Amino acid sequence: MLEGMTESTPKNILVSVAWPYANGPRHIGHVAGFGVPSDVFARYQRMAGNNVLMVSGTDEHGTPLLVQADKENVTVKELADKYNRQIVEDLAGLGLSYDLFTRTTTRNHYSVVQELFKGLYSNGYMIKETTQGAISPSTGRTLPDRYIEGTCPICGATDARGDQCDTCGNQLDPIDLINPRSKINGETPEFIETEHFMLDLPALHDALKAWLETREDWRPNVLKFALNLLEDMRPRAMTRDIDWGIPVPVEGWEDKPSKKLYVWFDAVIGYLSASIEWAARTGDEDAWKKFWQDPESQGYYFMGKDNITFHAQIWPAELLGYSGKGSKGGEVHKYGELNLPTEVVSSEFLTMSGSKFSSSKGVVIYVKDFLKEFGPDPLRYFIAVAGPENNDTDFTWDEFVRRINNELANGWGNLVNRTVSMAHKNFGQIPTPAALEESDQVILDLAARTFDEAGEDLAAAKFKNAIGKVMSLVGEANAYIAEQEPWQLAKDSSQRERLATVLWTALQVVSDCNTMLTPFLPHTAQAVHETLGRTGVWAATPRIEEVVDDHDFDLVGVGLPEKGQTYPVITGDYTSQQATWQRIDVVPGTELAKPKPLVAKLDPELGETGPEWAPVK
Ligand code: MF3
Ligand code: ZN
Repeated sequence: MLEGMTESTPKNILVSVAWPYANGPRHIGHVAGFGVPSDVFARYQRMAGNNVLMVSGTDEHGTPLLVQADKENVTVKELADKYNRQIVEDLAGLGLSYDLFTRTTTRNHYSVVQELFKGLYSNGYMIKETTQGAISPSTGRTLPDRYIEGTCPICGATDARGDQCDTCGNQLDPIDLINPRSKINGETPEFIETEHFMLDLPALHDALKAWLETREDWRPNVLKFALNLLEDMRPRAMTRDIDWGIPVPVEGWEDKPSKKLYVWFDAVIGYLSASIEWAARTGDEDAWKKFWQDPESQGYYFMGKDNITFHAQIWPAELLGYSGKGSKGGEVHKYGELNLPTEVVSSEFLTMSGSKFSSSKGVVIYVKDFLKEFGPDPLRYFIAVAGPENNDTDFTWDEFVRRINNELANGWGNLVNRTVSMAHKNFGQIPTPAALEESDQVILDLAARTFDEAGEDLAAAKFKNAIGKVMSLVGEANAYIAEQEPWQLAKDSSQRERLATVLWTALQVVSDCNTMLTPFLPHTAQAVHETLGRTGVWAATPRIEEVVDDHDFDLVGVGLPEKGQTYPVITGDYTSQQATWQRIDVVPGTELAKPKPLVAKLDPELGETGPEWAPVK
């Protein structure tokens, strides 16, 4: 730390959240990987007094959308519009506090992506190579990646596509497939020479390695995986034979309808383009720069483990090459020298009753259905305490019911309810304590320490540890009440002072627990805030806003987004919320009302049957 700098100097923290494909509604496996963890982190960082910029959007190019559009018999644009809107609703409904959740089919995104390509190209890191592309022998036309199926060379699944194997999640090139066949008519594609632009990863190898070697505090699995990627770095195609995507900004290429930038080349640039869009929408065009150009700023990237390659290798390589920092050198371009990720925070997978989530096999729990029946915080809680932070974990209705009933309802809900009820009934307000006894001081000290300890965990993206510590404080607070037996004290008028002290102590600890649960359970935290007789916004919730794509940008090529389209974004005003990561004294004399139940208990039968819309099989 620099001299003269205090611990409380606010940091600029970019929270970059993986961009979901707009090819279907989100299921709980998706939001367990990127959604809830990133929001808990962003909310904690804001409470700790830091400047947070949390961005994401829907990923709308690439084969996954084209395949789904075929299935639904709609245009890919119609498909993207439909699921962009639905995903916005799913994520806002969960309370994910994006500063901007946008999409990749905006004029701004196209412009930023073309700028990065041009910078990489002029610095020498985009090399044109002749590779093998598939054509249909009967028609002689290019066969797009998504229309080629075959056996995965990595896991042996027989239904891998030319772009990706859905079984093992690996990204593929059509030429990699064993026994390739055309999905259109079953014929074996012919491979002919075709040109593509390759990202010169070998020229960026040393710079990537030097950066990765400074990343010591990542989750061990993620770091190991990322370091391993350095072993075999070959140039990788950043253009595709596909007609849906961002035109390649190179003379002679921009107007070719069947050559576009690779979806992963453009999607990761979304973090930057969304930051730029956010700045423009706030009216301060340069506001993004402090998050990207100040070397003291930090950037945390949240995703599922199938995305590590793109965040720990491709994206940093794009940034290094654009900033002229590979072995070929190069110039700094329009956006300046850009920060590399501070940490790639990747989760493992959530399975459902032992199987991989699969919409087509009906093994799926949609966020929308979940929210409608249970509201957001039960799902957020489950993901925080039982999600796939470091290991693949399984969702079962049985465990969901058990955790909500035993921990959230009987543990936390009950603590709030009985504490506030007794204070309301006996005093009608927060009572004035007399001298504290040791037992009171012990629980208050534990709560104070938990701020530090859980705060450290949250800053290090150790969410399970953090919530574990807070829930253990909840348990201690319940034990404190059981020992002090305030209901007995209430029967004896000579114990009125002691009763006041015990209830005041318990209320202070309830307030502390609520503060520390806020990143996890923002909606419940707002309710507890009000139950404690406080007013105003404690934990802000995101809102959906309809915006216009009206920017003039220097775009080249065919198939550009039209100017003047409207689309929904998630945004919010999180800076004026009251929540901060510290004890807020409960004030004697504050009026209390009779509390409403905080957490609805679930019918234990649900654990065996599941709900109608996702029955246990
Ligand atoms: N759409 C990708 C997926 O669902 C994630 C893209 S993340 C980003 O796996 F880096 F590209 F933004
Ligand atoms: Zn595979």
